[in-house]
Amino acid sequence: MEFSKPITPGQVSCLLGFIPLLVAWLYSELLEYRKNSSLKISRNSDVNLVVLSNEIAKEDDTAHLLEGGLQATSLEARNSSTPHLLRFFLMDEAFLLENRLILRAISEFGAYLLYFYLSDRTNLFGESKKSYNRDLFLFLYFLLIIVAAMTSFKVHHDKSPFSGRSILYLNRHQTEEWKGWMQVLFLMYHYFNAKEIYNAIRVFIAAYVWMTGFGNFSYYYVRKDFSLPRFAQMMWRLNFFVAFCCIVLNNDYMLYYICPMHTLFTLMVYGALGILNKHNERGSVIAIKFAACFLVVILVWEVPKVFEILWSPLTFLLGYSDPDPSKPKFPRLHEWHFRSGLDRYIWIVGMIYAYYHPTVEKWMEKLEETEAWIRLSIKTCVVTISVVVGYLWFEYIYKLDKVTYNKYHPYTSWIPITVYICLRNFTQQFRNFSLTLFAWLGKITLETYISQIHIWLRSGVPNGQPKWLLSLIPNYPLLNFMLTTAIYVTVSHRLFELTNTLKIAFVPSRDNKRLMYNMIAASVISVSLYSLSLIFLNAPWMMVHLYLCFY
Ligand SMILES: *[C@@H]1O[C@H](CO)[C@@H](O)[C@H](O)[C@H]1NC(C)=O
Ligand SMILES: *[C@@H]1O[C@H](CO)[C@@H](O)[C@H](O)[C@H]1NC(C)=O
Repeated sequence: MEFSKPITPGQVSCLLGFIPLLVAWLYSELLEYRKNSSLKISRNSDVNLVVLSNEIAKEDDTAHLLEGGLQATSLEARNSSTPHLLRFFLMDEAFLLENRLILRAISEFGAYLLYFYLSDRTNLFGESKKSYNRDLFLFLYFLLIIVAAMTSFKVHHDKSPFSGRSILYLNRHQTEEWKGWMQVLFLMYHYFNAKEIYNAIRVFIAAYVWMTGFGNFSYYYVRKDFSLPRFAQMMWRLNFFVAFCCIVLNNDYMLYYICPMHTLFTLMVYGALGILNKHNERGSVIAIKFAACFLVVILVWEVPKVFEILWSPLTFLLGYSDPDPSKPKFPRLHEWHFRSGLDRYIWIVGMIYAYYHPTVEKWMEKLEETEAWIRLSIKTCVVTISVVVGYLWFEYIYKLDKVTYNKYHPYTSWIPITVYICLRNFTQQFRNFSLTLFAWLGKITLETYISQIHIWLRSGVPNGQPKWLLSLIPNYPLLNFMLTTAIYVTVSHRLFELTNTLKIAFVPSRDNKRLMYNMIAASVISVSLYSLSLIFLNAPWMMVHLYLCFY
């Protein structure tokens, strides 16, 4: 087996950090096993005790209880005063038992990353070429829709929070289903290299960013929770997994451009609502905020040079160069400029839609109550306009070639999104159903997006675009597709759950002190591990230098 060179200090740090955790987990499982078996034994001996003598046992019991109580309190006192880290290093058995499930989650997470590394950075598994066949592509996609419709068609009876009637407008099932079906096309586009739907993929990504604006605006506008824990949880959700992928696979953050993009736009929504949030109730303040968002975007993205100057301090984080020698060479920030620029306005559109959402919902409610012929004519009108506008967009914008299309995209992507929203909701029946299979896939879009690059597709080199397919069954492309897809979707779903488990464990919602403690501990550990691995990696060289110095 060949490893891709060079081995980085980050990779060594991860390994150094992972091994003790893995050992601790195995040990905690052993402790748990022992505890369970000893419990069984002690239950048996209890029975014997009872048989022996009731009287003595009673006295003994009280004594035991007292003693036990004392021990427990002293143990608790010790536990709360001893930092968790120290207890970990001392391999405190009670501590390991308490945290067995967390250790298990960490080990499982590490195992997946190892699988990522083996799939993408070693030649343990094979690789094959991508090939596109429109017939096969559509066949697979429609097959999935049929399966989803047959197995997971679901009518929801959620009630509107305003009227108690079931006309939830823009509800979660639908947004997740929407994410799901787009994600499938997006992934298949990568897998089959379906160049002809490039423009559609741009629209899907705009729709995700639209949902970022929409969802986050609704959340922060209603909940008004701008606290540190909430912020930390949000960042954890978006970046925890991708951070480890970058370190373990030695990739730039920009290789997973969806992550920095969503992080940026989430931060912008957070900032827009968080600044002076006491006044968010006032319509004029919100209007000024929307205008300010547009102004900021225009200043940064439309005025030449501002983007480069503003972001240049973050080049280390957001820079990217494709290692492929056949690709044109661009400045390191070019990729970030291009990706973030494509969807620079649509998150604001999402916020605006979210702001008017309750109003539109009330309208729709009224509409459902009016006489049938008025209702029908209004709906027909809306549908006709949507279809015509959608058609015009398709004919005159969508069909443009890739480069020209990208120029128009930032200003036109709201059109297909609005048309879809209108058509998806024009009757109550339409509004209320969703395909749960797609909604399920929609929940794990972030994980499927990141994992695809390594365990479904493959690049083989750091920062490489995934040009190949991972091949577990050589010469059987379809069987291989089935197997790698099954593994890949399962792993993605587990990663989604693990990210959540670990978030609950490490980013407490209420305990700010513990959150600070965890953040400081994490930085101290990372720095020590990193220094240690630097020494490790350089040790052979240092020896040589010393040797040369002496002789
Ligand atoms: C409209 O359609 C969009 C897209 O599926 C969805 O997110 C939203 O929940 C739907 N609801 C209404 C009534 O707009
Ligand atoms: C905010 O946006 C991010 C990125 O799309 C998303 O993952 C998250 O769920 C959103 N938050 C809410 C509350 O909708």
